Amino acid sequence: MALVPFDDRDGVIWMDGKLVPWREARIHVLTHALHYGSSVFDGARVYNGKVFKQRAHTERLLTSAKILGFTIPYTAEAVDEAITATLQANGLKDGYVRPFAWRGSEVMGVSAKASTIHLAIACWSWPPYYGADARTKGIRMTWAPWARPAPHTAPTHAKASGLYMIGTINKHHAEDLGCSDALMVDWRGRIAEATSANFFMVQDGVLHTPTAECILNGITRQTVMALAEAKGIRVLEREIWPPEVQLADEVFLTGSAAEITPVGQIGAWMFTPGPITRVLTEAYEAVTRA
Ligand SMILES: Cc1ncc(COP(=O)(O)O)c(C=O)c1O
Repeated sequence: MALVPFDDRDGVIWMDGKLVPWREARIHVLTHALHYGSSVFDGARVYNGKVFKQRAHTERLLTSAKILGFTIPYTAEAVDEAITATLQANGLKDGYVRPFAWRGSEVMGVSAKASTIHLAIACWSWPPYYGADARTKGIRMTWAPWARPAPHTAPTHAKASGLYMIGTINKHHAEDLGCSDALMVDWRGRIAEATSANFFMVQDGVLHTPTAECILNGITRQTVMALAEAKGIRVLEREIWPPEVQLADEVFLTGSAAEITPVGQIGAWMFTPGPITRVLTEAYEAVTRA
């Protein structure tokens, strides 16, 4: 399939208060965010014209910026309105919406208090993140060479673009090995998360997931935990060490893009998508399309 570059598409992008033609949504090369990573983003799926958990995503975006020391100059209500306008202008009913904010090009250097803050929103259609077969077979994963940083060395609770530098290196490593993603451990060697999705495993009917100490506490993760509890499935947030994972009955990932994706393999360990993954997938499909 021919690659359609993301800067050469039809449609419109909401940028600093205006809908602009897609190809004209440009910034200068001396933008602070490009040099110093001063940008944050969010990403949500759109189901039948409605963003799932829109306000939670918008609030996370505003909080991510705050953690990086800047304030997005719009209220949550205004961001939500802009998201709706972007979806409508592009006629997108099912897909993905990406709001993002960054420091502009007024100053060059680490100190950037004088820079302006920008916000843009783009949306596009996005098929299953890990491909069509992932839901039935489960994805292949490898161990990530780079760990998720400690919460006192990086703003791990922000959805900060800079953190995805590690994600991209890890994901490329996985792809080089024919895998779909890499599983990161944290700074102490405990299971953390995949490059853009949270980790769950089932053991003896109980759902286990790492504590949200240095991972992104995903909105899907929180939704799935609530759905599991509503179905009477016990949920345990705890420290998980890698050797424990080989004893899991089922493993899956969660994320707005990934939704619920079963894992069929991590390194040498094999898993089969099982009943709890299926029950939660059905429940997630029901709430996202309600
Ligand atoms: C590193 C990382 N962890 C977890 C997630 C899942 O978060 P959410 O369910 O809010 O999309 C994402 C996706 O945004 C992510 O990038």
